[in-house]
Amino acid sequence: WHVAVLMGGWSAERSVSLSSGEGVARALESRGHRVTRIDMDRDVALRLAETKPDVVFNALHGVPGEDGTVQGMMDLMGLTYTHSGLATSVIAIDKQLTKQALVPHGIPMPGGQVVKSESLFAGDPLPRPYVVKPVNEGSSVGVAIVTQGGNYGSPIGRDVEGPWLHFEELLAEPYIRGRELTTAVLGEEALLVTELQPKSGFYDFDAKYTDGMTEHVCPADIPDDIAQACKAISLRAHKLLGCKGASRSDFRWDDTRGIDGLFLLEVNTQPGMTPLSLVPEQAARLGIEYAELVERIVEDALK
Ligand code: DAL
Ligand code: MG
Repeated sequence: WHVAVLMGGWSAERSVSLSSGEGVARALESRGHRVTRIDMDRDVALRLAETKPDVVFNALHGVPGEDGTVQGMMDLMGLTYTHSGLATSVIAIDKQLTKQALVPHGIPMPGGQVVKSESLFAGDPLPRPYVVKPVNEGSSVGVAIVTQGGNYGSPIGRDVEGPWLHFEELLAEPYIRGRELTTAVLGEEALLVTELQPKSGFYDFDAKYTDGMTEHVCPADIPDDIAQACKAISLRAHKLLGCKGASRSDFRWDDTRGIDGLFLLEVNTQPGMTPLSLVPEQAARLGIEYAELVERIVEDALK
């Protein structure tokens, strides 16, 4: 195949995307495919039109790239691309829209409300502890946990001032104590459950992308009913949203509450493909090496 690997762009996750994209490009080259790397800029349509690939591997994360805009452009251009399409991307990038799409189908997600960032100066939208996060960022960019005491507690997480200053609106959700779990879906199959144990206590940007800062327990050491529920919910969410190729569903589990303590936080339609990323790790545990995973995602797009 001739594959254009679309990466970079200008979202807050640019560096993550460059790492995903380079990994994907090298894997495809190792399998004998022709690869054109495209670091997305405002001329992306022109560059794709000149490249005339058989397929575009979308290795973008964040906005734009994960939110439907680039997917819509590629639809108009008649290009075949990996991962989810326009409508799915528009919904899944927005954590509040995702709740509105999935909760009526019985998928357990924390209640949330979108608030003006400024309103947080005036008072708490929810009882503490709660989480505030941008509705449409990835990699924990801008996430803070507001705890008891202090001026909005001491939000654990990077960029303590960030949520208030950089985003007009934020999603506020009750904080779910307990454990961080994630499950990948590849094609029509839920892979495994990984538990993330960040040494700092919070799985933030640095804990996600700095080697050694987070222990990945895969498969997670959790009761079978919780593991089965993670897989079933991930697959159901993937199908309800109409995801393609690969997705990854992130959970919090309050282990004092059994199955009632399990909540889906979000579905990632452009999951990371970096050396520390979770979809490649789960695939590898099941004997699907990185290059094979990349080829399977491309094949799914070409189907
Ligand atoms: N947003 C990052 C790339 C992920 O979900 O893996
Ligand atoms: Mg995400």
